[in-house]
Amino acid sequence: MSRNLRAGVVGLGWAGQQHMNGYQRAAGVDLVGLAGMEAEPLQRLGDEYAVEHRYADWVDLIKNAELDVVSVCTPPSLHAPIAIGALEAGVHVLSEKPMALDAASARQMVDAAKANGKILEVSFNHRRKAEVTATKELIDKGLLGEIYYAKAGWMRYHGIPGGVGNWFSRKATSGGGPLMDIGVHMLDMALHLMGEPSVQTVSASTYAAYGPRGRGRGNYGAGQPGSDQPVPFEVEDLATAFVRMDNGSTLLLESSWAQGVGHDDMYVTLYGTEGGAELTWNPPGPQLRAWTQIDGVDADLKPALGLNGGHAEAVADFVAAVAAEELAGHQGDEALTRALIVDATYHSAAESTEVRLQPTPPSALTQDAVTAVAG
Ligand SMILES: NC(=O)c1ccc[n+]([C@@H]2O[C@H](COP(=O)([O-])OP(=O)(O)OC[C@H]3O[C@@H](n4cnc5c(N)ncnc54)[C@H](O)[C@@H]3O)[C@@H](O)[C@H]2O)c1
Repeated sequence: MSRNLRAGVVGLGWAGQQHMNGYQRAAGVDLVGLAGMEAEPLQRLGDEYAVEHRYADWVDLIKNAELDVVSVCTPPSLHAPIAIGALEAGVHVLSEKPMALDAASARQMVDAAKANGKILEVSFNHRRKAEVTATKELIDKGLLGEIYYAKAGWMRYHGIPGGVGNWFSRKATSGGGPLMDIGVHMLDMALHLMGEPSVQTVSASTYAAYGPRGRGRGNYGAGQPGSDQPVPFEVEDLATAFVRMDNGSTLLLESSWAQGVGHDDMYVTLYGTEGGAELTWNPPGPQLRAWTQIDGVDADLKPALGLNGGHAEAVADFVAAVAAEELAGHQGDEALTRALIVDATYHSAAESTEVRLQPTPPSALTQDAVTAVAG
């Protein structure tokens, strides 16, 4: 019998702890190493998970712990440096979202995975929600027809996060605001449900109406070291984008950390040639409504919902792909498409212009895939 894989996690915050839990629950893997800069959680979590190797710096973890796989759960500015360092050391990588600070760094991660023959996954855990997997099954059975229009959004009312040192609202560490933080989850879910169409153009606007005035702080990350300190707000607090696909379908995407409508709203709405679906994750709880026509009669669909997946499932699937040495489809190409769209969104907003993405398949990209279309 082959030995268990040796896993490490970099980052001790909420995200890092989801990955630790995932490795503890997954078959065929042992969590043997942690890295993170906060001494107390490093000791506490190290003891809780009985982890042998504990370091302040990720470099020491990669150098000393003889890892097979590592999760990168740090601020986005470190995703590419850590992932590339690990891949070059022969370690398979599961990175948190957003993939990287920008698409150029994301592409370097994909290149490193391919050059070193290793797996690179990005944790898009929200697509594993029961409502999303049930909707995907309806679509795969043809019950909604072709999805030609979709709306997806995660609009937080008061949700500017904290995190260690308040990195979320610093551009150099986060790369952007709610689009990078929560909008990418909605983008991922929408593209997944729409059947991964190629994106042709993006037209977007971003705003910073509340964050710069110190308004709209949420609970996430509160209590982390430095999260109570005042911090410059250098990113957007609301982003909206109109995304056109080369098959003619379109997506309206929106995300906010702070806005004036007094409640959160998280949703995906799909419009298909044979029906539609509404997925919402708002109080009092998640809801999936879907419609089609059967023999000319309108029908409400009531799909059975399975269990909610999340980080544990993302970790287990990553471990299984590594164990099976299944490189095809597991070297970051799909996540790179999300990074290119995010880049195009910021570019469009900054230049007040529509941005056209090159039609080249992501895995073959050799140059900057984003070019502005003359307004
Ligand atoms: N998928 C999700 O649902 C989800 C949810 C929350 C956060 N995230 C993502 O996870 C990542 C981390 O978010 P968080 O909220 O846990 O952040 P956090 O600020 O709570 O934790 C960041 C961790 O990174 C560590 N770190 C920073 N520099 C390091 C270095 N040089 N060596 C070792 N460790 C280092 C810090 O010590 C800290 O433990 C981000 O990319 C975030 O977007 C994803």
